[in-house]
Amino acid sequence: MKLLITGGAGFIGSHLLQLVAAQKNEYEAVVLDNLSSGCKENVPEGIRLVQGDIRSPKLEQLFAAERFEAVIHLAGQTMVPYSLEHPQEDCDVNLMGLLNVLECCRKYGVQSIVFSSSAAVYGDNPHIPLKETEQLQPTSFYGLTKMASEHYLRIYHELYHMHTAVLRFANVYGERQGAGGEGGVVSIFCKLLAQGKPVTVFGDGSQTRDFVYAGDVAMALLAAVRLQGYNTINISTRQETSLKQLLAAFEAAVGSSINVSYAPAREGDIYRSVLDNEACGRLLRFVPQMPLTEGVRRTYHDYAQQYKRGI
Ligand SMILES: NC(=O)c1ccc[n+]([C@@H]2O[C@H](COP(=O)([O-])OP(=O)(O)OC[C@H]3O[C@@H](n4cnc5c(N)ncnc54)[C@H](O)[C@@H]3O)[C@@H](O)[C@H]2O)c1
Repeated sequence: MKLLITGGAGFIGSHLLQLVAAQKNEYEAVVLDNLSSGCKENVPEGIRLVQGDIRSPKLEQLFAAERFEAVIHLAGQTMVPYSLEHPQEDCDVNLMGLLNVLECCRKYGVQSIVFSSSAAVYGDNPHIPLKETEQLQPTSFYGLTKMASEHYLRIYHELYHMHTAVLRFANVYGERQGAGGEGGVVSIFCKLLAQGKPVTVFGDGSQTRDFVYAGDVAMALLAAVRLQGYNTINISTRQETSLKQLLAAFEAAVGSSINVSYAPAREGDIYRSVLDNEACGRLLRFVPQMPLTEGVRRTYHDYAQQYKRGI
């Protein structure tokens, strides 16, 4: 299958490309990335990287030349706080960029599009674990552009019969994550601990998140390429993990106790967050598997090695 992976040089993309590279007989992938937060080193040998912007009119030339069968769309403005400070840029990248990709898909007969949405579309909703059918009430412009993107995919499916899959990721973590993105707390802790610095927890540490390993998210993205119709699927562990439990996983990874300081809770932070994953199991025939302790161990050791190498 001939695939275009936008944003493939980023964090989640790097896990997806490892999977794709291991299945060379099955997939031929091209990555389109402007390298604004991604890097060339994340693209394995044998996978072509085209440096460019999803909003560029030149995108059409790539579609005309390559005749992709499926697109996995990861490129975007990924930071919630940035979207609050720069709503126009967030909208431009996340909506105009998506539309440019979708129009190319329509013109060049791409059959399947997989979109990386987010738990941010739900906003602060107490009906946990949140099912895909819950009301969407984003509380940030980032969540709003993701929600609008989902509707574009639905309408492209209804009008042009493309198979479109919306995957709503919980808090993704893993090797190669930048500190700025959505699931930031794991990468922030990794960086500080690798440097032997203390970590700060806002609140009392009992707030919860659903931490899903990027390798599992990559498997879901690739499986979703084969879905028919329009589907919306949470990609999550369905396990609520408190920051205190996360710190315990870090202590196991580091092999010693961690110096933690507590600061007042930040206004606007969601207290509990966990997504249901029944639809994931039913439609993709798998649910994220990575135990938190093992995922944190891998992530921490990757950061620690990078720090030692001075990266
Ligand atoms: N990391 C998470 O916890 C999480 C959770 C929910 C959803 N998501 C979504 O998953 C997707 C991938 O996120 P990530 O965590 O890998 O982020 P990332 O920043 O590591 O990856 C995004 C990639 O897109 C590229 N990019 C950005 N703007 C571009 C543009 N205009 N044209 C071309 N390329 C562009 C960047 O260079 C980068 O390589 C994003 O759409 C993000 O919103 C991430």
